[in-house]
Amino acid sequence: MHAAGTKGAVFLDRDGTIIHDVGYLGDAAGIRLYPDAVGALRTLQREYALFVVSNQSGIAKGHITREQVDEVNRRLGELLAEHDVRIVAWYVCPHCREDACDCMKPAARFLREAADEYGLDLSRSFVIGDHPHDPATGDAVGAFGLYLLTGHGPQHIDSLPDDRLVFHSLRDAADWIMAHPEPRYGLGREIDFAAETIKSGGLAAFPTETVYGLGANALDPAAVARIFEVKERPLDDPLIVHVAQQSQLAGLVAGIPGKAARLVEALWPGPLTLVLPKLPVVPDIVTAGHPTVAVRMPSNAVARRLIAAAGVPVAAPSANRFGRTSPTTAAHVIGQLGFGWGVIVDGGACRVGVESTVLSLVEDRPVLLRPGGAPLEEIERLIGRVELPGGADAAKPMSPGMLQRHYAPSTPLRIVPSLEPWLERADVGILAFSPLAGRPAGPVETLTQGGDLTEAAVNLYAAMRRLDGRGLALIVAQEVPNHGLGRAVNDRLRKASNPLSEAMPQGV
Ligand code: TXA
Ligand code: MG
Repeated sequence: MHAAGTKGAVFLDRDGTIIHDVGYLGDAAGIRLYPDAVGALRTLQREYALFVVSNQSGIAKGHITREQVDEVNRRLGELLAEHDVRIVAWYVCPHCREDACDCMKPAARFLREAADEYGLDLSRSFVIGDHPHDPATGDAVGAFGLYLLTGHGPQHIDSLPDDRLVFHSLRDAADWIMAHPEPRYGLGREIDFAAETIKSGGLAAFPTETVYGLGANALDPAAVARIFEVKERPLDDPLIVHVAQQSQLAGLVAGIPGKAARLVEALWPGPLTLVLPKLPVVPDIVTAGHPTVAVRMPSNAVARRLIAAAGVPVAAPSANRFGRTSPTTAAHVIGQLGFGWGVIVDGGACRVGVESTVLSLVEDRPVLLRPGGAPLEEIERLIGRVELPGGADAAKPMSPGMLQRHYAPSTPLRIVPSLEPWLERADVGILAFSPLAGRPAGPVETLTQGGDLTEAAVNLYAAMRRLDGRGLALIVAQEVPNHGLGRAVNDRLRKASNPLSEAMPQGV
């Protein structure tokens, strides 16, 4: 055993992390770097030695040879070297899971070998990848694991522990690492500082699994008033109160009907908000004068630690200016709100990507006030029929979130029946559900590679935001299949396609 080194390293998965995962890549001609990978690696190597650790089970399965894999790695190494990126060593596990080898992630054999050979301090190192096993490899040696929503990331997210930080891209992960050289301590300090700020009447932005929230002590009307001020949100739009434990619900609502208890039991923590008659302890400013309150318990571990540390329920809308696209990273929050209003906890990206489902249980018959991260199908399986907006009472919005405005980029967005007619316009951005056959003249954002609605939701706001930054005349989008999270995606697309000015109800 060698003495531990002093240098930190970053261990990177290859497929789905640095290059597109095309499955059993045996030919260097098939290498497709992610556009921001080189920049991210250049940033990281200012402080860290870079290693690639990749599992190539195609070798054991006979789809590709070890020589082919080595050739792809050699060529990728050359490509990166042309941009001054140096990978110190490449590790390849050629086995499949049934082989029960000791080199496949999350086994840490390669990390230990690298530490011995290159004098690394694994406790100051990071592991990044798009499969739950990648960051888990870090845990085994006291390194810090980060999960990417590129590659297969969105597909495996259900098996990812709640406390794992996720990122939209390698670029975002690199920026987070550079800002958090001592990740556990650094994040812990941000959470404690935010909790103190909320306790003393200030505002803190924090990640949830849906979008970033702008939080204040829900029981302090003056603190809550600041949220409306900073967001420029009209006072008639009530806020969601966030709790860290199921038991806190009873302290906020007048009673918990059986259907609510069943939903809480099955879906909390998670992206489901319940609207119930409120207790007097909840200030009127939180509920916009309504006798009801919306409550949710987020599953994001940073959010729950923060709310628990603050010791009070936390009122939080999405941390964007009123009517604008919701933030799914800390950088988005700063882009929208700037600085000077309070503190922010940077806990990476939001893994669901669209806001929570809002369900009213005020009447016996449950009503869907806003489709969101908890699929309607799952709710109906637990409590039976749910009334949809657009039903008998459609003329009278029961929730301001149902109004046809909200979530909009500043570039006009239009929903079109077919993207075809727009492909030749260089000044039109395309927000496509799945990969396009042709090659459009303008910029394209593809919500999912394989038709996965959960992946589409994760990418929606970040994709809208990127197109919004391109100075286009118009963004065109197509509706996605209307089930599961697709219902929430379509809802947000429709609302984004209605500019605030046109859709604001008169006299508000
Ligand atoms: O995922 C989410 O729910 C995020 C994160 C931060 O938790 N929060 C969020 O908050 O989206 P906000 O304020 O952007 O949306 C809250 C929605 C609005 O549509 C609001 O009208 C509805 O919840 N709501 C809140 N209280 C209500 C009440 N008492 N009755 C009916 N609707 C209510
Ligand atoms: Mg991968």
